[in-house]
Amino acid sequence: MARRTKIYEGKAKILYEGPEPGTIVQYFKDDATAFNAQKKDVIEGKGVLNNRLCEYFMNGLTALGIPNHFIKRLNMREQLCHQVEIIPLEVIVRNVAAGSLCKMLGIEEGTQLPRPIVEFCYKDDSLGDPLVSEEHILAFNWATQQDLDDMVAIALRVNDYLSGLMYGVGIKLVDFKIEIGRQFDGDFQRLIVADEISPDSCRLWDIKTGQKLDKDVFRRDLGDLADAYTEVARRLGLMPTNN
Ligand code: C5P
Repeated sequence: MARRTKIYEGKAKILYEGPEPGTIVQYFKDDATAFNAQKKDVIEGKGVLNNRLCEYFMNGLTALGIPNHFIKRLNMREQLCHQVEIIPLEVIVRNVAAGSLCKMLGIEEGTQLPRPIVEFCYKDDSLGDPLVSEEHILAFNWATQQDLDDMVAIALRVNDYLSGLMYGVGIKLVDFKIEIGRQFDGDFQRLIVADEISPDSCRLWDIKTGQKLDKDVFRRDLGDLADAYTEVARRLGLMPTNN
């Protein structure tokens, strides 16, 4: 078999050139990293779980008409996606205070926010992905005002979908991060959800017990990460049942 061309290797995924122009193959690794890769481990099965969960979430977005890069899952660890030009911003939506918001503003973890808060961080590992304002984004030409309006609208639609989905299986969507890319069709371009949606990039708390079912389990040594992600998949009906 011909060797594939690697386009990019990140902390949790590898991107390869896809079989058709304008496509890529996204491979999910078992590697887990936190605190800008200062903490690292290999969690057996994480890549398989995230590939499957990401497929499920992206298909949900497609069903609601929220454009995204997902085409189809190819195997246990890989999915075929449309190639995009990633906008160098992480788009974070928060429903409940946690993580860096608590640290930055001294708010107690778990405080319900009065409305969803959308934040942008500049994607640069060497800077630790700093929080940036719309003024920074426009001044440095990372995106236009129209892009920003579209990104906020997309992020809030994703939030509505994911919050409702999770609520239905007894999980609170505390916050999440998405990445958005430009898809080109001749002179025409549109913004679509790219990268991944998985428990690596969300905070998910059991509504009854408050148990964490996301990457904070790894960040804060709260137990077995694969067990937590398996529980999310099980509740969504993605795992074979024993009965
Ligand atoms: O760390 P912070 O509280 O800003 O993270 C907010 C949300 O964005 C969390 O769900 C976290 O998992 C996600 N995130 C991410 N990748 C980053 C930074 C944050 O997936 N580089």
